[in-house]
Amino acid sequence: MQPTISQIGSYVGKEVRFGAWLFNRRSSGKIQFLQLRDGTGFIQGVVAKNDVDPQVWENARNLTQESSLYVTGTVREEERAPSGYELLVTGIEPIQIAEKYPISLKEHGTEFLMDHRHLWIRSPRQRAILSIRSQIIQAVHEFFYQNGFKKVDPPILTPTSAEGTTTLFHTKYFDEDAYLSQSGQLYMEAAAMALGRVYSFGPTFRAEKSKTRRHLIEFWMIEPEMAFVDHEENLKIQEEFVSYVVQDVLKHCRRELNFLTRDTAKLENVKPPFPRITYDEAIQLLKEKGHEIEWGEDFGAPDETAIAESFDKPVFITHYPTEIKAFYMKPDPNRPEVVLCADLIAPEGYGEIIGGSQRIDEPELMLKRFEEHGLSKKDYQWYLDLRKYGTVPHSGFGLGLERTVAWITGTEHVRETIPFPRLLNRLYP
Ligand code: 4AD
Ligand code: MG
Repeated sequence: MQPTISQIGSYVGKEVRFGAWLFNRRSSGKIQFLQLRDGTGFIQGVVAKNDVDPQVWENARNLTQESSLYVTGTVREEERAPSGYELLVTGIEPIQIAEKYPISLKEHGTEFLMDHRHLWIRSPRQRAILSIRSQIIQAVHEFFYQNGFKKVDPPILTPTSAEGTTTLFHTKYFDEDAYLSQSGQLYMEAAAMALGRVYSFGPTFRAEKSKTRRHLIEFWMIEPEMAFVDHEENLKIQEEFVSYVVQDVLKHCRRELNFLTRDTAKLENVKPPFPRITYDEAIQLLKEKGHEIEWGEDFGAPDETAIAESFDKPVFITHYPTEIKAFYMKPDPNRPEVVLCADLIAPEGYGEIIGGSQRIDEPELMLKRFEEHGLSKKDYQWYLDLRKYGTVPHSGFGLGLERTVAWITGTEHVRETIPFPRLLNRLYP
């Protein structure tokens, strides 16, 4: 295989040839400095007029931004270069001289960049974010496989809702009505009864009319579900899981985090145990901070941020009012007006990254909830079956990938954490 820029360190003193794009070029008289990228990294190529064939010099001069080429040269160590290496160019074979590239190296407005997302992802910043996203995905799979979970894939086309009907994406399924999955959870509960400890990792669709920096219409969710696991153990697994992912990114993505000027000290600190407060305590805390909120109301983004500010790690908010949470959450036996659930709020204002709970396992209570929520027993017969044939205590949670990427990379808006974001007003490109 021909080398990539990320592997260039093992070719010091040797001549290499690889494919690249021209990111930028500077020249000072008899030397041209080519900033080359190949997707795996960046390296500076030095073309010295007196040392190369005149054709190579000309070829270098003709390269426009984002032109594609094969470059040949000798690798040498260069302390001042971000990559630690430099290429003494001996040959340039242009593949294509690019037309005038729309994204110049100056600042552009967000809408312009979003319209050019297919090109914007080539920029060093976007590349760093998407590389970290890939590392997070790898760490997620590693964590669950190492801990004996099986990967299960729930359907994306579903006949019913899992998280309430207000955010459902409707489509036709021949003559039937169908919806894009809002959560695989209900199916994962069935899978946990078959395989014990399972997780899913898939696209999730919510027709949310929210235009905030934390909301996407299409996002990716990781949903573990575990038989014989109660609320307490559910939280332990969550803090182990989130800490594993953060520490793994610190281990493998230093260069990207530094490039993004992420304060990594804040991430180093992410280790179990995580602080926990109850919903009641959170309401109290918010009132002390002057927020206008009453018991029974859900938290808005500013409330979550204010709570997070009181802690230097992700914080669990537990025991929300039964009224404002999903139908399947198990009430606290000592206090049925609250449920055995937790939201995990990321530090530094990145908001809720996990929602999870112990599930109702008693058939009678589940039937009662169906009545209260007006859910059709016929449509969800299969789900009710799980409470008839060997029901067991079980718990699970859902981690939003993009909010996690935003937090770990220190990216303000989730639109930059997914290759092609689907937003309230955006389906292009
Ligand atoms: O809190 P949510 O709605 O929980 C569920 O869907 C459960 N069924 C999960 C489970 O227990 N298996 O969503 C889980 C997480 C949120 O904490 C958030 O990180 C992310 O999914 N999320 C979104 N991310 C981006 N854009 C949106 N519109 C999101 N909605 C939820
Ligand atoms: Mg939630």
